[in-house]
Amino acid sequence: MTEVITNIQDMQRLARDFKRDGKSVGFVPTMGALHDGHLTMMRRSIAENDVTVISVFVNPLQFAPDEDYDAYPRDIEADTQAAKSAEVDYVFHPSVEAMYPGEIGVALKVGRLADVLEGAQRPIHFNGVVTVVNKLFNIVQPDRAYFGKKDAQQLAIIEKMVADFNHPIEIVGQDIVREADGLAKSSRNVYLTEKERQEAPELQKSLKSAEKLYREGERESKIIVEAVTTYLESHTSGHVDEVAVYSYPGLIEQQHIKGRIFISLAVKFSKARLIDNLIIGDEEID
Ligand code: PAJ
Repeated sequence: MTEVITNIQDMQRLARDFKRDGKSVGFVPTMGALHDGHLTMMRRSIAENDVTVISVFVNPLQFAPDEDYDAYPRDIEADTQAAKSAEVDYVFHPSVEAMYPGEIGVALKVGRLADVLEGAQRPIHFNGVVTVVNKLFNIVQPDRAYFGKKDAQQLAIIEKMVADFNHPIEIVGQDIVREADGLAKSSRNVYLTEKERQEAPELQKSLKSAEKLYREGERESKIIVEAVTTYLESHTSGHVDEVAVYSYPGLIEQQHIKGRIFISLAVKFSKARLIDNLIIGDEEID
């Protein structure tokens, strides 16, 4: 049975009951428009925990005024149905008024990790993300929380936040879930025109060409970035916003590749800005 909870106090009461009963809680925070990326994490949470809670909340704090907050796809009926078929226990779906009842008194600010990549494009975005995720963690009090590697920078920032604020929560990173043709699943893919949708799998193909270069021994970031950029420019009609090589999860731009890195790209189509990435290489052991 899947239950929808809209009241914050009700959710906190349930969280207390789960603790009291010794039940482990898995949590999948989302903004809804649920797709197979979200559902994969739900299924994993169900397998790994006694109780699974998901949240569906389009967080106004993480959208700039010129972004798609109003247009963001919302369909709580369809989302509840999807959560039911995945056999999620609870869908937490609070209102904006309940989450942000008045002026914000204390704000969180992400440091260096938010100055690059998506954070550089969207200056308030990650402050909004950590604020809402902190609130959701305090409300749901999970033992494990699941985040996708599609938003690799977000995952790195959440891991840092959990360490910095001593949340007793294990963060689980989910590999990117893709369509059959390779396009990373995203709630924003609905913004693509038919032609753009046909071109979109080229994003992953460009990363595969980078992976091939890496496997052949290429370690100069410039060569890889140029190869990916040229590939994207000749295979899509989108504007290549950024292709970059950063250490992961430290997020320091790399000239020469060493240890674990991620190759990140962003392509702007007419209505959607798509991101994709590839995390590669072994973690540095110092
Ligand atoms: P949303 O975009 O709904 O994504 C919810 C979670 O699903 C994120 O952790 C995201 O990385 C993951 N995800 C999305 N597409 C994926 C894919 N193709 N494969 C694997 N995981 C995928 O990210 C947010 O919402 C918000 O910022 C949130 C964390 C909920 C805070 O508001």
